[in-house]
Amino acid sequence: MLHGDRVALRPFELDDVARLQVWFDDPEVRLGWDDEEATRSRADLEREMRPAIMGEDHETHWFVIQEGDAPVGALHLHLDEHHHNAEIDILVGEAEARDRGLGSDAIETIMRYVFDELACHRLWLITSANNPRAIRCYEKCGLQREGVLREAGFQAGVHVDGIIMSILDREWRQR
Ligand SMILES: CC(C)(COP(=O)(O)OP(=O)(O)OC[C@H]1O[C@@H](n2cnc3c(N)ncnc32)[C@H](O)[C@@H]1OP(=O)(O)O)[C@@H](O)C(=O)NCCC(=O)NCCS
Repeated sequence: MLHGDRVALRPFELDDVARLQVWFDDPEVRLGWDDEEATRSRADLEREMRPAIMGEDHETHWFVIQEGDAPVGALHLHLDEHHHNAEIDILVGEAEARDRGLGSDAIETIMRYVFDELACHRLWLITSANNPRAIRCYEKCGLQREGVLREAGFQAGVHVDGIIMSILDREWRQR
């Protein structure tokens, strides 16, 4: 369990997959996540996540974002140990929990973990150009825009730019 100021990141259990799928059913999450996971059946999702949840895939980690006892979202961490890179995806699944600083606290928490405990060099993610809230959240956490994947995403029938954002360990320490 990783503790932030306002949230905790608790490792996923198999029972959490059902909740994740409910969150994926929210059109706002679906637009923001833009990954195939969001459209999988419960059985497929569970099959895909099982190795990470059971600790058999040491490069992939799923966390439930908890505010007190309440699960409010999910964070996916993928480690590239060879390059010392950490990639994340995040969703705050409970609509009323968004825009309250919980997403940025979850990111601050995972940054502390990957830079301080895992000695990663770079944390990065991809978001959509049409997700200003996500971009604002990541910029608040110190991530910089580093590139554009031109029309790489496909959302609601439209090709949208992907934005790569990142922060290096020295930048994180200098904040
Ligand atoms: C994106 C997400 C993870 C951010 O988490 P969060 O807890 O809502 O974010 P925070 O409250 O920490 O920060 C959001 C910031 O965006 C701002 N914001 C909200 N809507 C905005 C908009 N349309 N344009 C610009 N900024 C916006 C908020 O005011 C806040 O900034 P502030 O603290 O300066 O006021 C969450 O909203 C979410 O999961 N959304 C749906 C799924 C998604 O988009 N996932 C991201 C995939 S890359």
